This record gives sequence, C-alpha cells and structure tokens, in this order.
Amino acid sequence: MPNIHVRMKKKTDIINIINIIKSLTEWFTHNAVNHIALDSERLEGHVVEIDGAVRGFVLVDERECCIEIVWLAVDKEYHGRGLGTRLIHEVERHACRRGKSIVSVKTYGGSDYEPYRKTMEFYKKNGFKLYEVIERYPPFGGQPAAILVKPINC
Ligand SMILES: CC(C)(COP(=O)(O)OP(=O)(O)OC[C@H]1O[C@@H](n2cnc3c(N)ncnc32)[C@H](O)[C@@H]1OP(=O)(O)O)[C@@H](O)C(=O)NCCC(=O)NCCS
Repeated sequence: MPNIHVRMKKKTDIINIINIIKSLTEWFTHNAVNHIALDSERLEGHVVEIDGAVRGFVLVDERECCIEIVWLAVDKEYHGRGLGTRLIHEVERHACRRGKSIVSVKTYGGSDYEPYRKTMEFYKKNGFKLYEVIERYPPFGGQPAAILVKPINC
C-alpha cells in the first residue's frame, strides 16, 4: 500500500508545485506558472505526498468570511485517487483552526469545457454549492468564473 501523507507546504516545495502545474496543460496556461511562483511565497498551503514524493498541493487565502482556495492541483498521473479530497479535508481543518466555517473557491464557470466540467464535479462531490457565476471575470481573462462555497461544521 502506498504511504499517503498530507503536510504543510515548505519553501522548497515550489519546484514540485510548478511541475504539477506544468503537467496540467488542459487546465492552466503557461502564465499560471508565473502567478503561482508569487502566490506560493505569500499564501499558506499544504501538499500531499505519495511515498515521499509531492503529487498535489493547495494554497489558501484567509478572508473575513472564509478560507478561500486559491490554487488546488494534483499531478495528472494521480488524478482520481482521492488526493484532491484529502487536500479539501485539510483546508477544512485549517479553516476551523482559524475560526472560519466557510470554504470558498473560484473556478472556471462555463459548462462547455470537459476538463473543468470534471473539476466542478469534484467540488460538488466534496459538498461545495454554487453561489454565483460571474460571466466575464477579468482575472480569468474575461472568461466566466463560478464562485462555490462550502459551509463546514467545526
Ligand atoms: C480537481 C482535482 C484537484 C481533483 O483531485 P483528484 O485527486 O483527481 O480528485 P479525487 O480523487 O479526490 O476525487 C475524485 C472525484 O473528482 C472528480 N474528478 C475531477 N477531475 C477528475 C479527474 N481528472 N480524474 C478523475 N476524477 C476527477 C470525479 O467526480 C471523481 O469522482 P469519482 O471517483 O466518483 O468519479 C484534480 O483532478 C486536478 O488537479 N484537476 C486539474 C486542476 C484543477 O481543476 N484544479 C482546481 C482549479 S479550481
């Protein structure tokens, strides 16, 4: 059985994080690599390891209302093995420690693109509900953004 372990992100994880983003060309543009390098410096987060190798990560921001998932990704080779769900559970524990009872995320809000349709399915399976779709969201290059929220019991 592989050893799956979630731990806090360290500065040296940046290389692993960038490599994961680079493996996900259907979801992230090349530009995302530049953004993530900066975000990784300022945001808290966790990584998930399989047998000591980082295969997924999440970066979060603290808002007045909630903890927001800013980046979440799992290496393409490891999709569908429960790693993303483990990271969501870790975000929920983090939110509770910070006295927040809501987790939120913004993701691509169109229903016309299969990779992000699966992403939406993932969030819905993990208990997130649609709050609003912003039809033209500038940070997504004018593409639609779906805001999803999940209330949690701490
Ligand atoms: C979305 C993501 C983080 C989910 O992580 P994961 O480890 O693949 O998901 P889990 O194994 O915990 O959950 C599996 C469920 O998620 C859904 N899912 C979403 N994307 C999937 C994929 N590429 N492969 C398999 N299942 C996927 C399925 O509904 C699946 O449920 P099922 O097993 O009953 O069919 C991951 O697929 C990923 O990195 N996707 C690309 C980047 C992305 O969309 N990030 C979020 C941006 S807001």
